[in-house]
Amino acid sequence: MESATYSKGLEGVVAGESAICKIDGERGRLSYRGYSIEDLAAHSSFEEVIYLLLYGKLPTKYVFDEFSQRMRASRALHPKVVQMIRNFPEGGKPMELLQSVMAYLSGYVEHRIEHSSTCNCRQTLHQVAQLATVAATYARFKNGQDYLEPRMDLSHGANLLYMLRGREPDEDEGRIMDACLVLHAEHGFNASTFTARVVASTLSTCYCSIAAAIGALYGSLHGGANEKVFAMLEQIGSVDKVEAWVGKAFEEAQKIMGMGHRIYRTKDPRSKIMEDFLETLSAKKGDRGQLDMLKKIEQLATPHFESLEKKIYPNVDFYSGSVYYLLGIPKYLYAPIFAVARIPGWLAHILEQREGNRIFRPESIYTGSEDRPYEPMEKRQ
Ligand code: COA
Repeated sequence: MESATYSKGLEGVVAGESAICKIDGERGRLSYRGYSIEDLAAHSSFEEVIYLLLYGKLPTKYVFDEFSQRMRASRALHPKVVQMIRNFPEGGKPMELLQSVMAYLSGYVEHRIEHSSTCNCRQTLHQVAQLATVAATYARFKNGQDYLEPRMDLSHGANLLYMLRGREPDEDEGRIMDACLVLHAEHGFNASTFTARVVASTLSTCYCSIAAAIGALYGSLHGGANEKVFAMLEQIGSVDKVEAWVGKAFEEAQKIMGMGHRIYRTKDPRSKIMEDFLETLSAKKGDRGQLDMLKKIEQLATPHFESLEKKIYPNVDFYSGSVYYLLGIPKYLYAPIFAVARIPGWLAHILEQREGNRIFRPESIYTGSEDRPYEPMEKRQ
């Protein structure tokens, strides 16, 4: 124990090795399996990125066609899963639903659970394909609509919008939605991925590991941040009110949601791409309201934090909620969409963890009472 070090929030602690994703926090660079996030967002698709994350290389056309067809064939839900969504308590939150469905799903898919790195989840991919349908179906039921069969001919992102709207999105919207999933697909040893790896390290199933990861993603410091950014914009109201709002937030040392990151010491590269998507959609829809507010917040916050020598810049969630808003997605689905996008990353880490696995078991510093005599209940004050 003498050589053990303690760091709150495990900051700076190396908890494992991984060949999946590289983050250069100083220079603001991110790559999956060696491919830059900029290239992947511009030229790839979510399905191709899933293949890349799980197999470590880009697929040939033949391999990709077969892979994506197999995955698309898993999109529809078992009637009992549809029933489960219908029966979900009205006051329940969709992230709780996703977490429950994820554990439940393993009983309704032909999935041979093996606690090994050769587990067949690479082949089945129900977790990725079906969770998008679960999120969309939840929203449809909430709107009094019926279950809609997913489409086989659309990309993952375009199909998600189709299921939500009941009509096909245009090409730009489908492409942007799909690229948003690419941007969220993987990000190293963040809290939810670490959770997935911890659960996988006990040789639990990939479904249970992912269900646990969804629980970790739920929190407002992680996957819930984009909804909070949206709430902040609603609270501010319009661009002319930003300055006063931000000034008060600085005065009260209040956190500005969608800003700051444990690893990035500069603007998150995904945030720059999200900002471009928001520019495109704002121009297309003739609505710059949220974009202008966000730009103004960033413009005021950057010199403020720099003057305090704090490296706090926009992260991926700063612009993402507004992109989803202009795509017509209800705000309660922002965190679930993050979960839908992150499953391949979690899955890749679960499989990697199983290779040369050792169960996670850190130590803690005991701060409680020392040896106390046990008193019988009648004598206690
Ligand atoms: N706005 C204002 N100040 C912030 C801030 C923000 N968004 N994020 C961090 N800070 C400040 C903290 O108040 C703290 O200041 P102090 O040293 O004076 O106490 C310092 O920066 C370090 O912050 P801390 O919360 O300890 O950093 P962390 O590495 O533990 O947390 C986040 C990282 C992402 C959880 C944190 O930046 C945050 O809460 N951001 C807002 C939520 C968010 O957008 N989450 C999505 C992440 S992708």
